[in-house]
Amino acid sequence: MDTAKIKDELIEMIETAKDSASLETVRVSALGKKGRITDLMKSLGGMSHEERIAAGQEFNKLKQEIADLIDRQARQLKKQELDERIANETLDITLSPRPRPKGAVHPISQTMEELMVIFASMGFTLTEGPDIEDDWHNFTALNFPPGHPAREMQDTFFLPDDKDAKEGMQKKLLRTHTSSVQIRHMMANKPPHRIICMGRTYRSDYDMTHTPMFHQCEGLVIDKNINMGHLKGCLQDFLKAYFELDDVPMRFRPSFFPFTEPSAEVDIGCTRAQGEFKIGEGDDWMEILGCGMVHPNVLKNCGIDPDEYQGFAFGMGIERLTMLKYGIPDLRTFFESDPRWLAHYGFDPLQRPNAAHK
Ligand code: DAH
Repeated sequence: MDTAKIKDELIEMIETAKDSASLETVRVSALGKKGRITDLMKSLGGMSHEERIAAGQEFNKLKQEIADLIDRQARQLKKQELDERIANETLDITLSPRPRPKGAVHPISQTMEELMVIFASMGFTLTEGPDIEDDWHNFTALNFPPGHPAREMQDTFFLPDDKDAKEGMQKKLLRTHTSSVQIRHMMANKPPHRIICMGRTYRSDYDMTHTPMFHQCEGLVIDKNINMGHLKGCLQDFLKAYFELDDVPMRFRPSFFPFTEPSAEVDIGCTRAQGEFKIGEGDDWMEILGCGMVHPNVLKNCGIDPDEYQGFAFGMGIERLTMLKYGIPDLRTFFESDPRWLAHYGFDPLQRPNAAHK
């Protein structure tokens, strides 16, 4: 038997084994029960004493060499296989984990969520009221005198009277502002109050800056010893948080609302230089909201003693806030339901506003 030939053949087989599985086949074919080296060992039995001594040494040496070689090769193949596995199993973490959602959050919904997060962090609670209101909650309780122009047909969408409703609440309409929710909240709860309310409001009006349906955010704070300084501080904090600016110049202009006394309109500083509109700096002003100290008559209408409790209220248009923050030029596009518009101005549904990033 030519051990040198067997050795060469086995070495070649070991070196060309391309993976652990084929190396194992080589090992079995050399050292297994019916392996070639095992056969050699078995052949020792039929030899003479002298032959066996010489051949035994030679076979043992061959067996050892082949076993060592297989071990070395096995370790190398294992390492190679692990490296390949690691390379193949790498996760490309820059790939999105799931397909990007096609829909987008409407800018109005985005702004409402932002407002909620900011006012919640200032201790306000969110309340709601109905879109279909009655004349008492929308006007009378808010101290609108009979015959006030806002009650008239050209502004308000009136609905058929509800004959079954309580006396004074039979005249139905689509709320013209969210101030009606102040009344509902004060009627149903005991002071102190610190609420905001958001939702749809309706007025018969349509042009570049008016749509028959739009959204408002209303705030109401009623407590003992509340004054206009609190109103100013609250609005200042809100505007800085909403526009994400360290400073938002703000000015109060005397105004009139039947439900507040004194009443004011608030302007914020801006610049319109070189056709660019920017909030927070410059020497121009932009009206942003209405506010004031809640009129004693309104408190009385809701069963609150104005000598004990005072407070402030404010109301603002959500479309306007959105247009200013996100540079959306035309109000009417908000309601055209154009998917291209929404794809452009909409927000990622997986990235909702939260208190952590405000
Ligand atoms: N309701 C007013 C409007 O629709 C906005 C408003 C002004 C609300 C002053 C208020 C306020 O609460 O105090 O124009």
